[in-house]
Amino acid sequence: MGVNVRGRSFLTLLDYSPEEIRYLLDLAKEFKRMKHAGTLHEYLRGKQVVLLFEKTSTRTRCAFEVAARDLGMGVTFLDPASSQMGKKESLADTAKVLGRMFDGIEYRGFGQAIVEDLAKYSGVPVWNGLTDEFHPTQMLADILTCEEEFGDMRGRKLTFFGDARNNVANSLMVVCAKLGINFCACGPKELMPAKELVEKCQEAAKASGAQIILTDDIREGAQGADVLYTDIWLSMGEPAQLWESRIKLLRPYQVNAEVMKMAKPSAIFLHCLPSFHDRETTIGEEIYQKFGLEAMEVTNDVFLGPQARQFDEAENRMHTIKAVMYATLK
Ligand code: CP
Ligand code: NVA
Repeated sequence: MGVNVRGRSFLTLLDYSPEEIRYLLDLAKEFKRMKHAGTLHEYLRGKQVVLLFEKTSTRTRCAFEVAARDLGMGVTFLDPASSQMGKKESLADTAKVLGRMFDGIEYRGFGQAIVEDLAKYSGVPVWNGLTDEFHPTQMLADILTCEEEFGDMRGRKLTFFGDARNNVANSLMVVCAKLGINFCACGPKELMPAKELVEKCQEAAKASGAQIILTDDIREGAQGADVLYTDIWLSMGEPAQLWESRIKLLRPYQVNAEVMKMAKPSAIFLHCLPSFHDRETTIGEEIYQKFGLEAMEVTNDVFLGPQARQFDEAENRMHTIKAVMYATLK
C-alpha cells in the first residue's frame, strides 16, 4: 500500500513511520530536481497557509514562504509583535480562528504542548517549525544532505557534539533511530537527552538496526563518524545568564580540526545554523570580549573547510519543507 500522510500534522518525527519519512525525503528530492530545472510546480494553487513565529528565524521562515509560493499558495506571516497571539488571545482561540481561514499552519515557539494544541484546536495540518523539544523539519533537510553525500545512510554513524538534549539533538536521535542510522550524542553528562526519549528511540532503533550511543568521550564520538553535527550552545528561549556555565561545560566539545581528524576522512560537517564560528555577530563578539573565545561550537576553519555542507543543508530546508506541506495538503 502506498504511503499517505494527507491531512496529517507534522509535529514530531516520533509520529512518523520510517516509510513515511522515506516518502517525504523522496518527494523532497523530486521537488529539488524540479526547482533546479525551472519546472513550475504550483500544485496547491488556491490554498492558504499561515506561519506563526514566537521565536526568530531566517531559514525556516524563508523556506516555508518560498516553498508555499512555489506550490502556488498564499502565505501570511504572524509574530507576537504584530498579532493578538499570546498577549490578548490564547493559542487555542488563535488556532480556532486560523483553522477557519487557512489550510495549514506552521508554528515556531516554545513548548511542544503548544504545537500539539494548535493541531488539536485548528482542525488543519500543523507543522512544527521548532519547539523547545523538537525540530522535525530540520531533520529531513539534514538526512537529505547526508544522502546526497553518501547515498544510503543505513549503518553509517552520525555524531552530535554539544548540547545533546536540545531540540536539534533530540530530533536527530529520533530520525536516526527510525532510519537505521547509528546516532551518537557526544557531550557532558549534564546535557544528555532525557531518559524517556532515549528509551523511545531505542525501541525504534531495535526495529531499524540503528545503534544509539551516549558518551562524554570526544574520541569515541568522533571515531568512525561519517557526519559530525553541532548546534549553538545556548538555544533560543534560554536565559543569557547561562552562557558562562554552558561554555564551561561545552568548550571541550567544540568541533575543530583535531576532532574532524579523528572521524573518517570522508566525513562531512553539518550545522542547522545559525552558528557562532567567528566574531562576526553581536553575540559572537560579546562572548569573545567576555570569555576570549574566537569561536564557539565550531571553529572557522572547519566551518569554511572542504568537509562543510551546512549551506547545502540550509537550501535543503526549502525542498523538504515543500515536501511536507505538499504531502499533508494535497
Ligand atoms: N536552522 C534553523 O531553523 O534556522 P532558523 O532559526 O534561521 O530558522
Ligand atoms: N537549538 C537551536 C536551533 C536553532 C535552529 C535553538 O533552538 O535556538
